[in-house]
Amino acid sequence: MKSAVIPHHIAIVMDGNGRWAKRRFLPRLAGHKQGVESLRRCAKACVERGVKVLTVFAFSSENWNRPTDEVDGLMQLLAGALAKEVPSLARDGIRLFFVGERASLSAKVQAGLVQAEEATASNDRMVLNVCFNYGGRWDIAQAAARLQAAGSAITEASMAQAMALSHVPDPDLLIRTGGEMRISNFLLWQAAYSELVFSDKWWPDFDEQALDASIAEFNQRERRFGKTSEQVAPGASSVTV
Ligand code: IPE
Ligand code: IPE
Ligand code: MG
Repeated sequence: MKSAVIPHHIAIVMDGNGRWAKRRFLPRLAGHKQGVESLRRCAKACVERGVKVLTVFAFSSENWNRPTDEVDGLMQLLAGALAKEVPSLARDGIRLFFVGERASLSAKVQAGLVQAEEATASNDRMVLNVCFNYGGRWDIAQAAARLQAAGSAITEASMAQAMALSHVPDPDLLIRTGGEMRISNFLLWQAAYSELVFSDKWWPDFDEQALDASIAEFNQRERRFGKTSEQVAPGASSVTV
């Protein structure tokens, strides 16, 4: 049997924490805590499978509109999880990057992000991008604003360089858990040619098996990038007839 192609870069909208908690008559925050556990498990599984970049959506630009106690809880969870997770990330060789608008985060959270990035800077098995206070529209606008401030021309190439994920190639596979089939302002620019896979599992339940099922689904797809099937099929001659 042909062995599965492992996507170089997997991006995930980690959705369904709240519903997972509600099902158990628990507060939403309990779902977010379980979500951190699920992220740890998923990151480890990705390293083991040879994924080189994992990018996760942890808090969107629009999530500020949630009740204050949930927003506060998520901020605290981030600050706490950071300190706790760094040693285990280091053990797995994971380098952490935080992607998103930082100025509106508290000084404590901002300092935590920098510390965690620095503490994992020499790890080289996999990059983990945590998109926090991130929005695809914010990303496109901040890239354009930076180019404009520098007096640079706005081209596809210069924009790609100015985007928040310019340190990694675009995602090959974009997974959304939780059953919704929408992008919710995630990687609007970078997901132009990502294969989209939707899982009905709530994020805390998204285990190694579910990850493997998503990778298997990715392997069923034919990535054409605008070409014809004949051009990209295995064994296709490089000469166009
Ligand atoms: C995703 O889970 C995590 C965040 C958006 C922070 P949700 O909190 O959106 O969970 P559901 O969609 O309400 O179940
Ligand atoms: C997307 O989930 C954001 C994150 C997973 C961080 P949401 O739960 O916020 O998305 P919508 O509101 O259902 O579109
Ligand atoms: Mg949700």
